[in-house]
Amino acid sequence: MSNIVCSGVDKNYGAVNVISDFNLEVADREFIVFLGPSGCGKSTLLRMIAGLEEISGGTVSIGGTAVNELEPRDRGVAMVFQNYALYPHMSIYDNIAFGLKRMKIPKADIDARIKAVSTTLGLEPYLSRKPAELSGGQQQRVAIARAMIKTPKVFLFDEPLSNLDAKLRYHMRVEIARLHQKLQTTTIYVTHDQLEAMTLADRIVLMKGGAIEQVGTPADIYGKPRTLFVAGFIGTPNMNLIDVTIARGEAGWVLRTEGTDVQISGHGFDLKPGQEAVLGIRPPDLVQAPSTAGNVLTGVADLIEFHGNDALVTFKVAGKEIGALVDAVSCPKTGDRLTFSFDEARIHLFDKTSGLTLRRDGGALQ
Ligand SMILES: Nc1ncnc2c1ncn2[C@@H]1O[C@H](COP(=O)(O)OP(=O)(O)OP(=O)(O)O)[C@@H](O)[C@H]1O
Ligand SMILES: [Mg+2]
Repeated sequence: MSNIVCSGVDKNYGAVNVISDFNLEVADREFIVFLGPSGCGKSTLLRMIAGLEEISGGTVSIGGTAVNELEPRDRGVAMVFQNYALYPHMSIYDNIAFGLKRMKIPKADIDARIKAVSTTLGLEPYLSRKPAELSGGQQQRVAIARAMIKTPKVFLFDEPLSNLDAKLRYHMRVEIARLHQKLQTTTIYVTHDQLEAMTLADRIVLMKGGAIEQVGTPADIYGKPRTLFVAGFIGTPNMNLIDVTIARGEAGWVLRTEGTDVQISGHGFDLKPGQEAVLGIRPPDLVQAPSTAGNVLTGVADLIEFHGNDALVTFKVAGKEIGALVDAVSCPKTGDRLTFSFDEARIHLFDKTSGLTLRRDGGALQ
């Protein structure tokens, strides 16, 4: 078991900087997910930790030892990739045993370790088959077995499920969560799928352009996004973002947008009169209200997307499409005039220029 510490880690390709001053402490046994859009540097970081990519600046330590100069095989890490590249002509047994055989481990030991790993991953029935005779999910389990058999101090996963169909992804996600519960090996898992991140992570490291936007538990990141970018990236359906101007109200503050004024107490926020801001409200936080209610968003339903239990209703406020999640049983029809209220405790406000949250307690990066 091991912790991982990245301090001031940089990565340059020639003159191009792709990671700058990356700082993170991953606790022993923790499950960390690197999440972010394509090109933000997730794989590059993982590969630097694994030793597959040179570290341009800063230090990576595993279990208290700086590993910058260590070969990948001496770092105690095992990595699972998106393209798990099993050897097609070898049996599943030989695929899993491959690394151990090269390490000249006695056959009886290899046998015992393969038995243990294949039991954990439910692979015993397939050991004599060839990879082509397994499903995609089973092949991915073989790739995980190949990593597990080295009993690493650290597991590194780079988008291991992205080649699988939706149902299998879900199934494998649950298996990976179970595996971590059982083995408790420190893990960094890379994905650009926010649902995968939310369901697996102890903490999410949300990245953008080679830097950290926010580090926190899934609940923190969902409930208290530090920036507009985080707010827009996390949550399905997406958070509604409405441009507002902040003004003083009789009892508190007013959020002004074309045609609509919303009164709030402003409790917990740092607001200034005249400030240009963005109001964020998640679709499930909009609640249908009587048309006579005050402090509401109103509009005409122009699209209904049925999800099963609920439906996403789209309507326009100040020319902007807003989504509200409603119970499918009481779902409105297109053309209906709708009124939605919200609980002030569930709204988000961001400075329009800096994109930073206006919450008093929301500025910390991690
Ligand atoms: N060998 C290289 N030379 C130059 N630039 C590179 C090289 N490898 C990666 N990059 C750049 O580094 C940045 C980060 O790439 P990286 O592969 O880490 O992104 P990622 O977050 O894993 O994206 P994805 O979700 O698409 O896998 C990208 O802008 C990429 O173009
Ligand atoms: Mg990648």
